[in-house]
This record gives sequence, C-alpha cells and structure tokens, in this order.
Amino acid sequence: MQKGAIGMRPVYIFSVAAAATVAVGLFMSAAPMPANDGAPRYDAAGRLVFPADYRDWVFLSSGLDMSYIEDQPPAGVHIFNNVFVPREAYAAFLRNGVWPDKTVLLTEHRVGATNLSILKHGQIQTTNIVGFEAHVKDTRFKGNWAFYGFGNGQATAGEIPHGSDCYSCHQDHAAADTTFVQFYPTLLPVATALKTLSPSYLSETATPTSK
Ligand code: HEC
Repeated sequence: MQKGAIGMRPVYIFSVAAAATVAVGLFMSAAPMPANDGAPRYDAAGRLVFPADYRDWVFLSSGLDMSYIEDQPPAGVHIFNNVFVPREAYAAFLRNGVWPDKTVLLTEHRVGATNLSILKHGQIQTTNIVGFEAHVKDTRFKGNWAFYGFGNGQATAGEIPHGSDCYSCHQDHAAADTTFVQFYPTLLPVATALKTLSPSYLSETATPTSK
C-alpha cells in the first residue's frame, strides 16, 4: 500500500468527445435513470475518474496501520484503510463469489486520532484523508484488473504500471479474484461456500497434513 508517489498533476483535458457524451447523457436523463451503478468512468485520455459518491457504496472493512513488511511498523500517525465497493458489485459477489466486470473497489486512507473529546484510549477516524487507492476490474485491462492511486481531491488518475508490486502481491496473496476477501468479514464465508478462494490462498492457509 501507499507505494510510490501519487501523481498530483491537475488535469485540464476536456475533449469534445467527452462534452458530447455528457450532452447525450443529459438528453437521455429524461427517461428514469438508474441510480449510479458504480461502474468505472474514464476521461477522454483514459484516466479513471474518481468515484465521488463512494461513501454511498457498501463498506467492506477497515484495516488499521496495515503494513506488509515485517519489523517495519508504520511510524507516527495512525492510518485507517476503509474499503468500499458499489452496491451492485457487492450483490453480484454474494451470488457468484467473484466480482462482475466493471467493478471498482476503493480504499480510503484516513488519519486516526486519540485523546479527543471524551476519548482517552483507542483510535477514532478524523476528517483528514491522506489518499485513496482503487482496484478496477474491466476487460479493457491486461489481466482484467488495474490499480490506481489518488491524492485527496485529485479528480482523475492514470493506471499504475502492470509490473508494479500492487499486481504481484494481490495476485499471489489475495483470497478471491485478486481482492483481499480474507480481510472482508462478510465476503470470506461467501467465497468459501462458493469455492472461489484462489489456489494460492488455499495453499497459504492450508494446515500441514502429516502423512
Ligand atoms: C504486500 C501486499 C500488497 C501490496 C504490494 C499492495 N496491496 Fe493492496 N491490499 C493488500 C491487502 C492486505 C489489502 C486488504 C486491505 C484491508 O483489509 O484494509 C489490500 C487491499 C487493497 C484494495 C482494496 C480492494 C482489494 O483488492 O482488496 C485496493 C484498492 C488496493 N489494495 C490497492 C493497492 C494498490 C494501488 C497497490 C500498489 C500501489 C497495492 N494495493 C499494493 C495488500 C497489498
């Protein structure tokens, strides 16, 4: 997580094609529009548009101070990772144990605090967000998945290159469909029952058999 610098370049590109798409969308909205289904949206340059309504999505879980490097706990501030997924994608996972095409999973990295108000121990989440990461399933990508990083307030982000360790860690260690379902308590039983846990996860967690 939090690997590499997150690009903070503002994006000024707004093409005629994008404007036309918006115009068509407005025209068609005369018919009853389905609620935003949470599918990924890309700008004319192919950059992922930040899903501003992600707080209306389904909350999967929070991790606190997660670090994947032994002997190197995060220093200083405490950070919560809150993971969200669109409702329709969540419902599809409950049925199938895998994510449908066009799923966006978003983590929000939020600063924790203690000694606030009546709190003497433990951590609460503050209004201070340090950034976001997205994991998108879409057949347009090599391997059907791509990762993105957003700074707080950043409107669009480019695909993180496929050689980066985002891809290898998720591929090798995530429990289902390259997502960390082993840490999402409402989904692990679903993937277990539907037998969609990945072979690498199953062998990682297998109890050694004595023959
Ligand atoms: C060493 C392993 C590792 C690496 C490298 C890694 N992640 Fe993850 N990732 C995790 C774990 C573990 C979780 C579960 C997080 C939680 O429970 O809060 C996760 C969850 C996520 C999620 C939530 C959806 C999902 O797939 O479960 C996103 C989005 C995400 N990571 C993005 C990234 C991005 C972007 C990068 C690269 C910049 C990255 N990750 C690199 C281990 C990793």
